[in-house]
Amino acid sequence: MKIQVCMGHHCLLAIIFVLQWNLVLPQVDSKDLHLTFEEKTTLDTFKQQVIHLLPEEFMKSDFYLIRWLRARNWDISDAKTMLFDTLKWRKENKIHSILQENWSDLEQDFPANFESSDKMFRPICTMEMGEWDFRLAVLTGKSQRLNRYLAYIIERYVSDVFKAQAAGRNVTRALVLVDAEGFSLRKHACPLCIPILIRWTVTMEMYYPQFTNEIIIINAPTTVSIPHSPQCYQTFHDSGYKRRIESIWYG
Ligand SMILES: *[C@@H]1O[C@H](CO)[C@@H](O)[C@H](O)[C@H]1NC(C)=O
Ligand SMILES: *[C@@H]1O[C@H](CO)[C@@H](O)[C@H](O)[C@H]1NC(C)=O
Repeated sequence: MKIQVCMGHHCLLAIIFVLQWNLVLPQVDSKDLHLTFEEKTTLDTFKQQVIHLLPEEFMKSDFYLIRWLRARNWDISDAKTMLFDTLKWRKENKIHSILQENWSDLEQDFPANFESSDKMFRPICTMEMGEWDFRLAVLTGKSQRLNRYLAYIIERYVSDVFKAQAAGRNVTRALVLVDAEGFSLRKHACPLCIPILIRWTVTMEMYYPQFTNEIIIINAPTTVSIPHSPQCYQTFHDSGYKRRIESIWYG
């Protein structure tokens, strides 16, 4: 994926765009669980080929495995590549224990909340991103830790999806709500901040496919609109994902 940093206001547009990149068609979660006969056969074949290689128990469910096939258009070989890349990433970064780490320092500066769910019992992760000072984190040498914290956030809301599922809810995805009040070019769009945001959304796409139903940005600065800038579009065009871009803007 080619990453090109847009300058000035384009940066902000690029960020908003990136934040929405993971957006998939809002859909009823139960649809995620509905398979045609052909899809079921493909899933069974895929499962049989990978199950003995899966280190964590939650990975062995159809609920988890189906996503790799869907993300790769039911191509077993491509789905395997994607899944194995994820296993490698999880191992190298010790993701299996990330939820047990002490995040109190970052939780204070980068507030996120995981307590709520919508009326369909879908977990909602709320982030007060306007308060997040990426620039300060970068300047104080915390970018690595911030990258890890952002992975922690995804792992956390994805784990809530598994919990809801275990509690018998038809939940397959989470909802991400970004409160952008206070969003500023200075804090959020510094040249070294943008790669952090891009990396984060790539992490969502690559290692947690189809776990994020929608990213809704509220209180976005009114000067920001959905970008049509070809320059910015070009930036993310290469990743090969064709997703509908849609957003809900308030204020
Ligand atoms: C977490 O780390 C903070 C310092 O960053 C420390 O004050 C706190 O006691 C730690 N909490 C636990 C449960 O270890
Ligand atoms: C989940 O969905 C299935 C069919 O899609 C339905 O039969 C079942 O009652 C639903 N369960 C809950 C708890 O809503």
